[in-house]
Amino acid sequence: MGGVGGGVKSVAPALSRLTALLLQKRSCASSTATTTTTTTSGGGSRSTSPVAPPPLVVVLQSAQQQKQGGTFNGGEEAVAAVESVGSKGLRALALLGAGVTGMFGLAGLAYADEAEHGLSAPDYPWPHNGILSSYDHASIRRGHQVFQQVCAACHSASLVAYRDLIGVAYTEDEVKVLASEVEVQDGPNDEGEMYSRPGKPSDHFQNPYPNEAAARFANGGAYPPDLSLITKARHNGQNYVFALLTGYREPPTGVSVREGLHYNPYFPGGAIAMPKMLTDGGVEYDDGTVATESQMAKDVVSFLSWAAEPEMDERKLAGFKWILVFTLALFSAGYYKRWKWSPIKSRKLVLDVIN
Ligand code: HEC
Repeated sequence: MGGVGGGVKSVAPALSRLTALLLQKRSCASSTATTTTTTTSGGGSRSTSPVAPPPLVVVLQSAQQQKQGGTFNGGEEAVAAVESVGSKGLRALALLGAGVTGMFGLAGLAYADEAEHGLSAPDYPWPHNGILSSYDHASIRRGHQVFQQVCAACHSASLVAYRDLIGVAYTEDEVKVLASEVEVQDGPNDEGEMYSRPGKPSDHFQNPYPNEAAARFANGGAYPPDLSLITKARHNGQNYVFALLTGYREPPTGVSVREGLHYNPYFPGGAIAMPKMLTDGGVEYDDGTVATESQMAKDVVSFLSWAAEPEMDERKLAGFKWILVFTLALFSAGYYKRWKWSPIKSRKLVLDVIN
């Protein structure tokens, strides 16, 4: 049949027929293709290749052409159609496949990531988050009470001294009383002996354990880290600590947690040696706030954020003052410049050539 036109034109149909043949060979065994052969067999050139039934695309194409009133002149047009529609379809299919695989791959990565690094913590609206917001100092005071009554049994916060709390959460007299309630080891004295004495405001928070080995021994091998800088030492620190403290759950079906560990999806690996520490009413607040679990978690995180960044209030205030002063300086510099330049900018030079 056609395609033997000669010149450049004849090359394209020949090529496309080759592609079509290749495509047909692939779909040779499929039953849909076999049934379609019968429907198109009147078309003409189909009969020239008895083994290879046409792919479905050809059938659709020919049916459409017949509907539109066009004549289906057998092989050549169909073959061309197969070439363009078939390869386009294949390309689309490949793209779709790549997309779906990619999506599954990403989802898989995300799961693996969550298992390895822990569930990412939600963003909580901390009152001190704004650029001009200070800490909630009543919350720091309550948070210190939570820390002292609960966390300090296992965790140290050795970078915080009692006197740091003066003017932040307590008055000086309150801090003196607070400090005097702890026993501090000091020395050596004149006789070379270590001795205990009541604490002073200049003392730092005491470690609950004499050393790391003792801490590990008491906690089933895990070491409760020092909490002074914990909100800085963990990614997304404040949100993470809050989510961690309130994130204890029953392990989901199929997940078993080794004895001595506790299921917590926010902790990397999902099993933490620290038991759930905060339960409603676990602490008595001196300002009468109801000590719910989330209240205590919020307060203790406020306290830990302050401990990690005690200068935040002053930093923001200083930043605000500098911005204010620089803004005023900018305006006066602008005014001064206009004032100094005004005689020059408003001067009119006239070149009088006649006189
Ligand atoms: C019974 C002892 C105990 C108490 C009480 C305790 N913790 Fe822990 N905590 C641990 C241990 C043990 C670990 C180490 C966990 C691990 O590595 O599996 C830990 C780890 C942590 C971590 C670090 C998690 C990480 O990402 O490494 C934070 C934060 C923390 N505790 C906060 C607190 C706070 C806040 C309190 C008080 C509300 C508290 N803990 C009370 C024993 C305790």
